[in-house]
Amino acid sequence: MKELQQQFEHELLDCQTVDDIEAVRLKYLGRKGAVQEQMRLLKDLKAEERADFGARINTLKAYIEEKIEQFLKQTLDRQRSEQIAKEHIDVTLPGRSSWKGSYHPVAVTMQSIVRIFKDLGFSVQIGPQVESDYYNFEVLNFAEDHPAKDMQDTFYIEPGVLLRTHTSNAQGRVMERTSPPIRIISPGKCFRNEEVSARSHVFFHQIEGLCVDETASFQDLAWTLTEFVQKYLQREDAKIRFRPSYFPFVEPGAEVDCSCLVCSGKGCQLCKYTGWLELGGTGMVHPQVLRNVGIDPEKYQGYAWGFGIERMVMLRHTIKDIRLFSENDMRFLRQFPAI
Ligand code: FA5
Repeated sequence: MKELQQQFEHELLDCQTVDDIEAVRLKYLGRKGAVQEQMRLLKDLKAEERADFGARINTLKAYIEEKIEQFLKQTLDRQRSEQIAKEHIDVTLPGRSSWKGSYHPVAVTMQSIVRIFKDLGFSVQIGPQVESDYYNFEVLNFAEDHPAKDMQDTFYIEPGVLLRTHTSNAQGRVMERTSPPIRIISPGKCFRNEEVSARSHVFFHQIEGLCVDETASFQDLAWTLTEFVQKYLQREDAKIRFRPSYFPFVEPGAEVDCSCLVCSGKGCQLCKYTGWLELGGTGMVHPQVLRNVGIDPEKYQGYAWGFGIERMVMLRHTIKDIRLFSENDMRFLRQFPAI
């Protein structure tokens, strides 16, 4: 029995898992186990030996039971500690923040421009990107043989249907369905079949403005655009200037510039030492355009403008290549904070 106890102790110490311990338990305490085997020897013993032998078997059995219970508890505790150590979570580590999307710089600029004109009493009207030749050109007094209608400049979808080349297509549509006074802005995408370069793209954004009423004057136009520029650049000393230009749908027509936001008109690298930055085209609505949409030019007059958004963003952030706006390079886009 001494040998049996030593053998048991040895085997128990070798156990690694609960299953190993169970196997040892069965081997010693099971119905066909070593302890039962000793019990069976009792009947062959003399009566005077039997009590002593029986007591020793019971002691051994109790010893094995107790050791197994102890070892099982130790093993379970150890397994639990190992598991906890393995699954350890460091709650003091900083969390992983997920990537937050942000608005595209063109959208941000568009939103801020729209907000300023809304404050000045203009409402938003969106024109279609797929447009008829009539609203893109004809109603705006373009001659049948105007070079802009050439396949070189315009993407035609089918004869008479095209991708609009400017947001001025909204003008005819709005004037046809609204009686003056009219004060609208119309932002959106434009498309031109032009060679892509650092300053020009085949698609870009413009924002159109149109005001028609009985007293609209060039002076009102100058005031509205000055007010806009001062708010957009957040500079009360910002100025605008007009350079005579030709657009078939305005008379007189002009290119409008704003004083350079970096040097305030003194001359610097950004404005190429002119003191001015180009915004887009503008002018008084041509009387023929008013006639085309059924508005009496003797009674009403209007002014309009169309600014290129990408070029305004490029000016504001000194971005040198317009292609960056459409290449989806995250290194570029991430520089503009989410709003
Ligand atoms: C026009 O598109 C006129 N519809 C503007 C207008 C409206 C004049 C109302 C009078 C009254 P222009 O072709 O100059 O004008 O374009 C205006 C602006 O759009 C340009 O100053 C420029 O900022 C932007 N733009 C024009 N073409 C491109 C291009 N290919 N890529 C990027 N921006 C462009």
